[in-house]
Order: sequence, then structure tokens, then C-alpha cells
Amino acid sequence: MSGEDQGIRLVGVTRRYGGVAAVERVDLAVPPGRRLAVVGPSGCGKSTLLGLISGLDEPDEGVIDVLGATGPAARLARCALMPQRDLLLPWRSALANAAVSLENRGMSRRAARAAVRPLFARFGLAGAEDFLPRQLSGGMRQRVAFLRTFVAGKEVLLLDEPFGALDAITRAEAQEWLRATLEAEPRTVVLVTHDVEEALLLGHEVVVLAARPGRVAARVAVDLPAARSRRELLATAEFVGLRDEVLAALEQGSSAPSVEPERL
Ligand SMILES: Nc1ncnc2c1ncn2[C@@H]1O[C@H](COP(=O)(O)OP(=O)(O)O)[C@@H](O)[C@H]1O
Ligand SMILES: [Mg+2]
Repeated sequence: MSGEDQGIRLVGVTRRYGGVAAVERVDLAVPPGRRLAVVGPSGCGKSTLLGLISGLDEPDEGVIDVLGATGPAARLARCALMPQRDLLLPWRSALANAAVSLENRGMSRRAARAAVRPLFARFGLAGAEDFLPRQLSGGMRQRVAFLRTFVAGKEVLLLDEPFGALDAITRAEAQEWLRATLEAEPRTVVLVTHDVEEALLLGHEVVVLAARPGRVAARVAVDLPAARSRRELLATAEFVGLRDEVLAALEQGSSAPSVEPERL
């Protein structure tokens, strides 16, 4: 979508709130069309990182480059952020909610809804177009929120614990569906989660953040067969090994928060 096929790059990014670092000296790179999953305990700076990448927030130190853009407004123009809570407008139908991001880009209400309507079936939402958010299940609400993010037409998707509020069964379905959707239509994605399996299922790479301040404690490359189901993948020796590696890094990160990423 952008002429600059450079993906996302963070170099030495530090963000302090009131003198306390939320994230400190973070280096990350996401090649175009790839998915990075960031996993870490609550409060380790995951949402802060997404705010920084999106351009809604600026680092105190370091450089953030999104498809060649380093200024906050230019980064914002390249990113679609799905916030941690779904934030659907309660008085608007599912269709009208999904169309919001197109309306925000200047499309008429009518044209925006016409553009979004054909996607409902693909997003597992056929027949739900006229439902209000309170009439939708949790899984459907998250799909509407993701659809709204997806149709914004941005190359970069920033997803903040998109399935965090769902029960385990619904979450498993949502993960499988999102994986298939992004395999079919790749975007450059940073997905934040505290769920290790979700990180491994959806990321091409998993970065483990250690808490207080948020720092990169480990990087794990994920190389799993694309065409397998979630259940099949979870049972493979590769998956089990990767999960153990990430869990070990999380344990280490919480007991030794000041590990230098350079030394790992
Ligand atoms: N706007 C803010 N003002 C002050 N402190 C903040 C702000 N946003 C986040 N923090 C602090 O930064 C740390 C990281 O927060 P956050 O990025 O929300 O973590 P996570 O998403 O991993 O749970 C926390 O200690 C939090 O209290
Ligand atoms: Mg958060």
C-alpha cells in the first residue's frame, strides 16, 4: 500500500510517565506483511508500545519508523489501531459500527455502509448487520471491531489484546479465524497479548517483554505450518517447544526485570 516497503522499526525507544519508564530501550522490527506478537504481563508496557507506534504517543528517546514515516501524524496515517476494549458505539448497528472508519476518512454514510456490507459474510457476521452491539455475542463484537480496523485500509494493523475479554472457546475460534484472514490478506501487524498460545498462533515472531520497565527479554521466531488447524498446531512438537521457550522467558523476565536484551 505504501511505496516504502520498509515495515516497522523501533530503535532505542523509551517512554516515561512522570519520570518512570513504561518501556525502556526497546528495539523491534517487523518486515512488511509480517506479524509480530508482543507478549508480557499486565503493566509491562504493551499498550504503551502500540500507542507509540501508532503516533498517538511520542517516545522520550529513540526512533520509530512506520513504512518510512517517523513523525507522529505520518505514522498515524499508516496505522489502524484496535484498542484494548472494543468501544463499539452502542446506538449504532453492527454495519454502522464497522463503517465508522470509512466515514472518518470522508466517505458518505451510505457509501461506507455499502462498502462494508459485502465483508460481513467473510467475517462470520452474515445476518448480524442490523444488530446493536448489545445483541451480539462477545466474539461477534470483536469481529465487528476488527472489521472496522481492517477496512480502514491501512497497511499496518495494531491489535491490543483483541480477544482478551472472550471466553476460552470463543477466543480459540477467533484466533483461528484471524489467522486465516491474515494469511489470505496479509498486513503488517503488531499484536499485543498476554496469551502465549495466541502469540504463537498469530505471530511470525514473538517478542517477550519483561515488566517494569518494559524491555525486550526474548525474541522467538515462529515457523509453523500455515495450513494446519489451531488444534493440530497446538499438538505439534514444534509448538510445544516454542510455548515452553516463551513461558521460560516470561518467568525469567518477571524475576529479573533488568536483563539487558543485548546480552541474550
Ligand atoms: N498515560 C499514562 N500515564 C501514566 N502512566 C501510564 C500511562 N499509560 C501507561 N502508564 C503506565 O505505564 C505502564 C505500562 O502500561 P501499559 O502500557 O498500559 O501496560 P500493558 O498494556 O502491558 O498492561 C504501567 O505501569 C502504567 O501504569
Ligand atoms: Mg494494555
